[in-house]
Amino acid sequence: MNHKEKPKEKKPDAFHAPKGMHDILPVDEPYWEKIENAARSIGRSYGFGRIEPPVLEDAALYNKTSGEESDVVAKEMYTLRTKGDDLLALRPEYTPGVCRAYLEHGMSRLAPPQRLSYFGPVFRHDRPQLGRYREFTQIGFEVIGGQNDPIYDAEIITLSINLLAEVKLKDPTLKINSIGCRVCRPNYKRQLQNYYRQHVGELCEDCVRRLETNPLKLLDCKQPQCQPFKDRAPNFLDKLCSACKAHFRATLEYLEEVGITYEVDARLVRGLDYYNRTVFEIFADGKEAELGALGGGGRYDYLMEIIGGHATPALGVALGAERLIAALRAKEISLAARPVKKVFLAHAGTLAKKNAFALREELRRSGIMVAEALAKDSLGAQLKVADKEGVALALILGQREAYEKSVIMRDLSAGTQESVLLEKIVEEIKKRLKV
Ligand code: HAM
Repeated sequence: MNHKEKPKEKKPDAFHAPKGMHDILPVDEPYWEKIENAARSIGRSYGFGRIEPPVLEDAALYNKTSGEESDVVAKEMYTLRTKGDDLLALRPEYTPGVCRAYLEHGMSRLAPPQRLSYFGPVFRHDRPQLGRYREFTQIGFEVIGGQNDPIYDAEIITLSINLLAEVKLKDPTLKINSIGCRVCRPNYKRQLQNYYRQHVGELCEDCVRRLETNPLKLLDCKQPQCQPFKDRAPNFLDKLCSACKAHFRATLEYLEEVGITYEVDARLVRGLDYYNRTVFEIFADGKEAELGALGGGGRYDYLMEIIGGHATPALGVALGAERLIAALRAKEISLAARPVKKVFLAHAGTLAKKNAFALREELRRSGIMVAEALAKDSLGAQLKVADKEGVALALILGQREAYEKSVIMRDLSAGTQESVLLEKIVEEIKKRLKV
């Protein structure tokens, strides 16, 4: 570089959304609308009421419930220390926060069970990949209180399958298992430990640790080296106590009653610690199963006690909205496009511009969607935009129309136009557009 030349100004680096996080854009709107509407209408039809706990909660809430040993807490939780020295966490899931709110607001005094639903962002510092984000959206349903009756297990699963059907995701695969209770689980854990101790030298590092801290998680390991041991591990379903067996059998019978098919998967233990008895996961059919589970859930009858409440039967499910959308897109399921604007409003002159601004409000209030380029002063430039919008009608307000309180209505396909009094314009547009 010649020493007289000015050094080139370096452009600041462009900003990007944080890794694993994404923007939801207007082109995505039909998908989000479809899913939100389906979640709302299905939730209402089963008697659920909306609950939205704050995005931040005391980090200890998740340590105690989801489990210090779970990946979600041990590896993936976003935490922050406040100026007041509190350790808060961006919620890695909703269930503990919903239970905290249930207790805090004395909801156990309300008619049981309480059916609570939510729809919002969740954060996990996981490795981003297909179907896995660091910020994603959970649609969830929790049934808290009342009897420990398998009819609720079947209800939560049926609701989940119905929600998928409502967004046209048909024939999903439901995997279901029972992981027992305080009575039968310790026994099974011991058997599992005894079995795995014989292979300790061949297990992955995480499994060696799990063997002592949380043996059930051995069945959740995805490392290839641990798969053969997993396959030959003792089966929990054979070791369930009679109450857990009966609960599981009844859950399956209720599902059969409403025609829901299932696969019993004795290796399904789920990644969170609070579950007991029924656990399940739902996958899309075909190659969209690669996205990972569309939803998962189960019973958590001990969670309330862990956070200071009374023993309370409870269960729920959460579905990942982004995964549902990815499955819809991959299956090329078409959704109604965003509504198209059919009327263009243009002006010529300062007074006309003011009147056009007010007319747009009136049209909007009357339910007529208006395209416009009101900020452009040249009529020609405005009409060019009208061309791009592909509207059927253009309304043009000039100085003369502003004084006469009228507007020119131009039929863009026929190329004809007429003057219409402002007071009649809404009626006239609706007649023309047949709305
Ligand atoms: P989970 O299985 O951890 O369960 O998450 C539920 C659903 O959230 C998953 O099936 C998946 O669709 C979606 N999901 C999870 N992680 C990601 C990710 N990184 N990116 C995109 N989507 C993801 C729970 O969170 C429990 N709280 C569910 C529950 C409710 N159990 C009882 N009540």
